[in-house]
Amino acid sequence: MYTKIAPSILSADFSRMGEAVKLCEEGGADLIHCDVMDGTFVEPITFGGQMVKNIRPLTRLPLDVHLMIEHPKTQIKFFAEAGADIITVHYEACAKISQTYLEETLKLIKSYGVKCGAVVNPDVPVEKIFPVFTLCDMVLIMSVFPGYGGQKFIQGALDKIKSARAYAVTIGKPDMDIEVDGGVNAATAKLCREAGANVLVAGSAIFGAPDFAAAVREVRGQ
Ligand code: DX5
Ligand code: ZN
Repeated sequence: MYTKIAPSILSADFSRMGEAVKLCEEGGADLIHCDVMDGTFVEPITFGGQMVKNIRPLTRLPLDVHLMIEHPKTQIKFFAEAGADIITVHYEACAKISQTYLEETLKLIKSYGVKCGAVVNPDVPVEKIFPVFTLCDMVLIMSVFPGYGGQKFIQGALDKIKSARAYAVTIGKPDMDIEVDGGVNAATAKLCREAGANVLVAGSAIFGAPDFAAAVREVRGQ
């Protein structure tokens, strides 16, 4: 299975975001991962729909918007209209509102013609999102607690990737996108690929590398 690489612009210099986006495209990335943080679901605040809107015309790459926010349903419209290609929402933010909130949010994303995905934190079993696998274009397994780039990969993510891939096969979606986010570098990427992940997010390992394109290839395992 081809491995798609999604550099996280969280690790870019926010004053030079246009250049970072160009670097992703020229460096062989497959998606651009946009980390949206609200200061409540996670401590930091990053950016909102305006950033997505502004980088949209700068690249043909799909924009992978990872919403680390409370009440995600209220924000879908803004990110969809800003030009997101895929929007992922956290199970934890949805489950605290109601049992049906995650499903409702995923359906709302799809109603805009945007791909959707569910995310689980390191302390949440992946089985919690099995009920929405049929609705999802992608699932995202966090391999760090969200909030900051540059953290250490949590090995427990590997078994969750395996379970997610196995379950995707059983529901007849063997090629479903399974994304991993947090602490991904050349070494941990190999473990993720072997476990069945095919979309790898990397922030510091790519933006912190001296040669962007070489770092993309290394994470992809080329
Ligand atoms: C963490 C973010 C990640 C982060 C990854 O809250 O969701 O996307 O940017 O950064 P690295 O690859 O440095 O762990
Ligand atoms: Zn992310």
